[in-house]
Order: sequence, then structure tokens, then C-alpha cells
Amino acid sequence: MDRSNKPSAIGLGASLPQPTLSIRDNIIEASLPTGQSVTVNLYGATVTSWKTRGQEQLFVSEKAHLDGSKPIRGGIPLVFPVFGPPPQNHVTSPLPQHGFARNSNWEFLGKSSSEAPGRDSDQTDLTVKLDFGLSHSMLTDEFRQAWPYEFGLVYSVTLTTDSLETSLQVRNEGQQNFEFQVLMHTYLNIADISDIRVKGLESATYLDKTLQGTAHTESSPALAITQETDRVYQQLDPAVPVVVASAKDDQPLFSITREALTDVVVWNPWIEKAKGMADFGPDEAYKNMICVEAGSVSGWQTLEAGEAWEVISVHDSYDLKMSIPNSKFKVR
Ligand code: BG6
Repeated sequence: MDRSNKPSAIGLGASLPQPTLSIRDNIIEASLPTGQSVTVNLYGATVTSWKTRGQEQLFVSEKAHLDGSKPIRGGIPLVFPVFGPPPQNHVTSPLPQHGFARNSNWEFLGKSSSEAPGRDSDQTDLTVKLDFGLSHSMLTDEFRQAWPYEFGLVYSVTLTTDSLETSLQVRNEGQQNFEFQVLMHTYLNIADISDIRVKGLESATYLDKTLQGTAHTESSPALAITQETDRVYQQLDPAVPVVVASAKDDQPLFSITREALTDVVVWNPWIEKAKGMADFGPDEAYKNMICVEAGSVSGWQTLEAGEAWEVISVHDSYDLKMSIPNSKFKVR
């Protein structure tokens, strides 16, 4: 994959403030000298917090299980190798909903720091990248038997001053081809669901999971969420951001750009489903979240023996108090 804009690691002067890292039990937290931070739970390599400008950008349910007994309800759970309930008579059929990556214990592979061009051209931003790994031998016996392929996943979480980038490399380390789906199930933290619109989906075909998975075409340039919403938007151009904007003044709150991820799931459980989920709370919290999930889920990716595949999702967060430059969507 061409990553020509990837920040190159450079030697940082000893006098420059450096990112800090703390590792406590199975929780990894990294902070930039400018105050931004990210927290990752090794259970699922789930990002459970992303703070910029002192504000939490991700939603995590008050009732989320953080002890490894259940996938974490919030943050960014990683869906692999199957999205949703596995299809019948498929090799993934024995797996739980959304696969095993979000309920497996990952390994922390290490941190690296680099400098990247800032939003203002004369500015340089410090970034910190955390790498996590999961392989076949690390799975529980149950998952190893249910999905018997030799695979390696490297999940990288990169924090910059105004964005969080998540990238996943999938490697086939065995002799047999395998098929998979992948999704970064991001729960964005919002003040009020009635005050946001989701943009960048107009004219796309979506499968509506609240209407038996039937296909529809998005007619709205700015989607309002007014009921249970569970849609798989397909064949989007990954370079065109999906934007969560303020309904009041159209200013962007978040944008999500992707590489090699052509599907986007938009999910909000609304009142009844939220009440029905034991790990979702408080009941009213459905107003404070919107899931915008970058993935490859409407078909299957096939990875041949010895091959690797890499995908990226970049979440940008905007400060409404700042002026938004024309090139507001991060160019990578
Ligand atoms: C979304 C799916 O991605 O995840 C929904 O489209 C599902 O159908 C939601 O309800 C939450 O899934 P889970 O397994 O975390 O409850």
C-alpha cells in the first residue's frame, strides 16, 4: 500500500518534550506533550478513550464490562473476521457475533513517536503510535477450533494533535486461503443525537438491518437520526470523508476517512434497543453516541497463503471554536 505521506520516524532532540506511556495491568495509555491522550485495553485492543482539547471524543457505556468478560460496549471495538451474526453454513458460522478480535487478549508490541506536518503548514505535530498484535496461537482453544487459520493481525493506533488513526494489517501465515470481514466499530461521543447530521452518504446504496436487510438508496445529503438506525452503506469512496456535523451550523464535529475500507455502518440503538442491552447505560445514553464504523463487510476479502492486507481509518475531531481551514479533511 502506498503510504507516501506516512510520517517518517526521525530522531527527536533530547530536549523536546516526548509522548508519555503508561502500562497498568492490561491498559495502555499514551499522551502527547500537547495534552491529547489515547487509552487502549488489551482486551480486544479496544480503544476506550481518545481525548483532545480536554474533551473525550469516544462514547463508552457506563455499564461496559472492562474485565474481559464481554466485548467492551463503546470506544472502538475491532470486528474480525466476521461482521454481525455469522452466516449459516459458512466457515465463520461457529464464531460469535462480530468475530473474536474484540474478545481476545492482544499483545502490546510497542510505541513509536514521529513528527508529521500539522494542520497549519508552518507547524509540526508530534504523533505517537501504539502497535498491538494477535495471532492464532494467542486465541482461546474455543476460538482456535472455531476458526482454524494461521493468521497474524497488527493493529496500530496513532494519536496526533487532532486525529486518531487506526490501521489493521491482516496476514495469512498459513498454507490455506481464508476469507474475512473487518470493521472498526467506532462509538463517537456527541452532546445530543438530535443536534447532529451524518454527511457524505448521499446516493449510496445501503442495507437497512432494521428492515430485514433490504437495499435502499440514501437520499439525504445530511442524515438526521430520529429512530433506531442500523445501516450498512456500501461501495463508498474511502477518500471522501463521512462527516458528523452540527445540525445547527453545519460545522464538522468529526470526519472519518479511510483507505481500502469501502463500507460504513451507521448505528444508533435508539430507546428500546438501548434499554434491552444489559451493558448499555444509562438508558438515555443513546442520545450521546453515534457509531460510524469503517469496514469491509458487505462481501469477503480473500487472503491467499503468505499474503497481507492493510486498511486504515482516520478519525479527525474538530474544535468548533477554531476556524476551520479549507483543507479541513486530513490529506494523507
Ligand atoms: C453494529 C451492527 O455494527 O453493531 C448492529 O450493525 C449491532 O446490528 C451493533 O446491533 C452492536 O453489536 P453488538 O454485538 O456489540 O451488540
